[in-house]
Amino acid sequence: MHTILVTGGTGYIGSHTTVELVKSGYHVVIADNLSNSTIEVLDGIQNITGVKPQFEKLDLCDRKSVITLFEKFKIDAIIHFAALKAVGESMEIPLEYYHNNLESLINLLFATSKFNTKGFVFSSSCTVYGQPDILPVTENAPIKKSMSPYGNTKQIAEEIIQDTITANPSFKAISLRYFNPIGAHESALIGELPLGVPLNLVPFVTQTMAGVREKLLIFGNNYNTPDGTAIRDYINVSDLAKAHVVAVQRILENKNKNNYETFNLGTGKGVSVMEIIKSFEKITGKKINYEIVNRRPGDIEKVWADTSLANTELGWRAAISLEETLKSAWEWEKRIRNI
Ligand code: UD1
Repeated sequence: MHTILVTGGTGYIGSHTTVELVKSGYHVVIADNLSNSTIEVLDGIQNITGVKPQFEKLDLCDRKSVITLFEKFKIDAIIHFAALKAVGESMEIPLEYYHNNLESLINLLFATSKFNTKGFVFSSSCTVYGQPDILPVTENAPIKKSMSPYGNTKQIAEEIIQDTITANPSFKAISLRYFNPIGAHESALIGELPLGVPLNLVPFVTQTMAGVREKLLIFGNNYNTPDGTAIRDYINVSDLAKAHVVAVQRILENKNKNNYETFNLGTGKGVSVMEIIKSFEKITGKKINYEIVNRRPGDIEKVWADTSLANTELGWRAAISLEETLKSAWEWEKRIRNI
């Protein structure tokens, strides 16, 4: 049985990926500092899979702790989610972002060469493309100057990984560039737990429907899109999680075409903010209180993925419909609010 280290495994995407890894027969070790998640997430994973993953509370910025972790477990591959991820916050405390997101990466990569770990799957983002000139966006689109320190940490991280591979050609890595992950596990036993006011659209909508927030602010309706609101590619988090299992398998079974590969993970379909709201209203039968306000600084107009490479090379494609995904987000919100 292969052992996979999942950093940030109690977080939103990490917990869903842990579920899919366990279901596929992997032994998972989670390393997380619980800075943006809770230990109870492990119970949710256990309730779904019947297995409680091994857990190590760890600061990945501390190299000694990382080495100790690798001494304790024979790790075959790493899926690295642990990172700070709030775009706005990264503009206020950029050094925290550069320190945390890059130091942890460097320590993990250092350990991979010391312990001969075979592979690395990195949690990247479509933010590396900025506003693409051509849509849908392919993996060959130019990497544009980042709008935020958060986005820049993703770009720099991809470069650091590539340089590590150049220096050590037996090491393999895949960067997965996520579009907009939303929804929750179909069991509603795990999902997204934003601390404080949610920054992303879907948790803000579900909290507004649950009565936790008074109204949703729609950031701009004067974009060059059919209904004027911005367009994104919203992907179900469990679909996204499954792509990580495929990526790890690809590395462990030596199926890579190159030692460093990147894949877009989206549905290939662009959906506007207004379409998300209308779908939620249809699914729940509830009206959402909203107000149109100014555009949010740093937001792009529209982006959706060309998923051909992930479809053909990974043999993966998003399978869960937007409707089911929004339903799962609402079921999760109801569960955590006891509605
Ligand atoms: C953002 C980040 C992205 C990051 C992702 C996950 C930017 C430019 N991008 O994606 O790098 O990987 O979060 O954390 O910040 N919206 C509203 N009202 C709200 C919230 C959002 O109208 O209260 C709109 C936004 O303007 C946007 C869409 O909904 O058009 C999606 O926003 P959001 O869920 O925050 O994701 P992104 O901004 O696309």
